[in-house]
Amino acid sequence: MNADEYKGWVGVFDSGVGGISVLRALVSELPNERFVYYGDSAHAPYGEKTPEEVLGLSRQIVEQLLAAGCKAIVIACNTATSAAATQLRAAYPEVPIIGVEPALKPAVLGTPDGTVLVMATPMTVRLEKFQHLMEEWGSGARVIAVPCEGLAARIERGKLCEPDLIDLIDSLVGGYAGTVDAVVLGCTHYPFVLEQIRHVLGDVPFYDGGAGTARQLRRRLAAGGLLTGRDVEGAVAFLSSKDTPEELALYQRFFQT
Ligand code: DGL
Repeated sequence: MNADEYKGWVGVFDSGVGGISVLRALVSELPNERFVYYGDSAHAPYGEKTPEEVLGLSRQIVEQLLAAGCKAIVIACNTATSAAATQLRAAYPEVPIIGVEPALKPAVLGTPDGTVLVMATPMTVRLEKFQHLMEEWGSGARVIAVPCEGLAARIERGKLCEPDLIDLIDSLVGGYAGTVDAVVLGCTHYPFVLEQIRHVLGDVPFYDGGAGTARQLRRRLAAGGLLTGRDVEGAVAFLSSKDTPEELALYQRFFQT
């Protein structure tokens, strides 16, 4: 990224392909904005690293996006939001930095007295942010949080129709089949395997944080007078720390699904 190459664009990042599920919601909410998406696929998965490592990686990416001129940052990753959002906001108080969190609130409100299964990375489930979310919303329903070790890394590899993926999902959450009333996809990689999860858990409502994050970005840009004045179609650019044509083609495929 060169200095000012993305001046006035919104910078979006994740450990890899997952944040593309959020990017789709952003483009749909704000079609005239320009988004530069950075996937840190060389360092995925974040959810099985330490919070300090994820903070360090997130900081480097945000520094680059801001040096390239981005006007706002979307952390399109539940794990990096938990590990780094507070510190990044403190470091760059003048920049809107929007995070994503498991959509526990709408799931609990939509499932009174039912059972809500939260699927997320081991780090998201462990960190304080999720514990706070549980304190605030966890009592309106029976909430079961499952750390889904290995799932984001498997999704990173693509080839989502192969049977080993269903086997992995089954080994992680298959034991809850028929007993849950709603599922929170608390990692931005998981919406890409929603059908496979549905196959294992049954046809229940699914919740993810993409649309809420997009609405929050709109509010923050509007409040800061930062919404684009352009009335032409926006743009999306993809960058990856695993900078190969195959990886960027994978990002495009995930964006178009
Ligand atoms: N997509 C990310 C999330 O929402 C991180 C997955 C990972 O790299 O472990 O948590």
